[in-house]
Amino acid sequence: MSNPWSLTSWRDKPICQVPAYPDPEKVAAVEKDLRRYPPLVFAGEARRLKKELAEVAEGQAFLLQGGDCAESFAEFHPDNIRDMFRVLLQMAVVLTFGATVPVVKAGRFAGQFAKPRSADTETIDGVTLPSYRGDMINGMEFTEEARVPDPSRMIQAYNQSAATLNLLRAFAQGGYADLNQVNQWTLGFVSDSPQGHRYQDLADQLTESLAFMAACGVTSDSIPQLRYTSLYTSHEALLLPYEEAMTRVDSTSGDRYDTSAHMLWIGERTRQLDGAHVEFLRGVANPLGVKIGPTIKADELLRLIDILSPANEPGRLTLIVRMGPDKVRQVLPGLIRAVRNNGRNVIWVSDPMHSNTVASANGYKTRHFDQILEEVRAFFDVHEEEGTYPGGVHFEMTGQDVTECVGGAQAITEARLSDRYDTHCDPRLNASQALELAFLLAEILKEGRTRDRNRRRAIASS
Ligand code: PEP
Ligand code: CO
Repeated sequence: MSNPWSLTSWRDKPICQVPAYPDPEKVAAVEKDLRRYPPLVFAGEARRLKKELAEVAEGQAFLLQGGDCAESFAEFHPDNIRDMFRVLLQMAVVLTFGATVPVVKAGRFAGQFAKPRSADTETIDGVTLPSYRGDMINGMEFTEEARVPDPSRMIQAYNQSAATLNLLRAFAQGGYADLNQVNQWTLGFVSDSPQGHRYQDLADQLTESLAFMAACGVTSDSIPQLRYTSLYTSHEALLLPYEEAMTRVDSTSGDRYDTSAHMLWIGERTRQLDGAHVEFLRGVANPLGVKIGPTIKADELLRLIDILSPANEPGRLTLIVRMGPDKVRQVLPGLIRAVRNNGRNVIWVSDPMHSNTVASANGYKTRHFDQILEEVRAFFDVHEEEGTYPGGVHFEMTGQDVTECVGGAQAITEARLSDRYDTHCDPRLNASQALELAFLLAEILKEGRTRDRNRRRAIASS
């Protein structure tokens, strides 16, 4: 029997990665305000996402999760939101049309503001200050004043999330995402690149197919799925006072939902079995994710699954694997077997970003495109060998033309990292690199599906 859960039961557990707010009364006042604010998402949407994720768990769909490492107050701009939306749509089209697999889209946005840090302090030129923990907590500027955690930043993050989500909903439902617009989604700086041309070819083929369907009477007027898209939000549920304040009882089901996003995940640094983050999230009914690094042991993983997904419902829990390519090959097979042999329903997703962060010679935190691809390949290979389904990918990316990750068809070099290095935390794929990865993924997925089909045919004819 597990202990009873309550909205505040996490407060009695050991907790990692907490900001040292100087004035607890101010925090309590902000929490009180937030509790009165409207939910950002509706419980019914989170339930719909869980249903779609159940299809991913059963190998019938693919999860594309992507967005900023950390959203920032400074980068808040409608063009940035539009560009992120566009690149996600483009990637989803490449995967859906290129590999004929339905894609569930979940953004790392409209709430991705709090960051776990490997050290509590940062030292520059002999000056030591508290680490930057995301715009929802403190400022990135290296001054004593900016680094003091300020609870009113939670309100600003809520407001920015609400406005971001409002625009995304308008794009998703208002006609922008109509498949007949597929030619319009190309981002300016990508259009003249090899990825742009490749996308254009695919968009032309898709337009031809749509024309054929229209001739048969199937148009976006008759089939709303061609006109609208669903886009879900997700973020790391790190700052628990905020998540607690956003959690509400759903009047239709009586369950509690964290209404700050459709899906929440627990990070690699806060997934302790007896810790506050696991305690809090086990009690909300949203679909959940948990990051899985190379040090986790099979029995620990099974216990984590039992706590977070006691009903073993498909779609409830996504394991987001981030180990680096070598460890994926060494460690993941044992974990997959343990999960499978114990009959646990989970979705396996690859995050090829977080174990591939390196320092460039000129001092930038970067990631190599080839290494990212290598981890994705390792992840797919292992699932192929184990006979399990690689359910999705999790990327840090942006619609902007940044130079934060090296390599890709644009051949970004270390020397060019300083050109447009804008991230507030980890290095992101730019839109061209993200699209390139989507094309490579579509090929890998297609190969896997062809192999499955051939296997089924061989069995049927033997
Ligand atoms: C992240 O997703 O930005 C992150 C910090 O990941 P992880 O918990 O896997 O290190
Ligand atoms: Co990150």
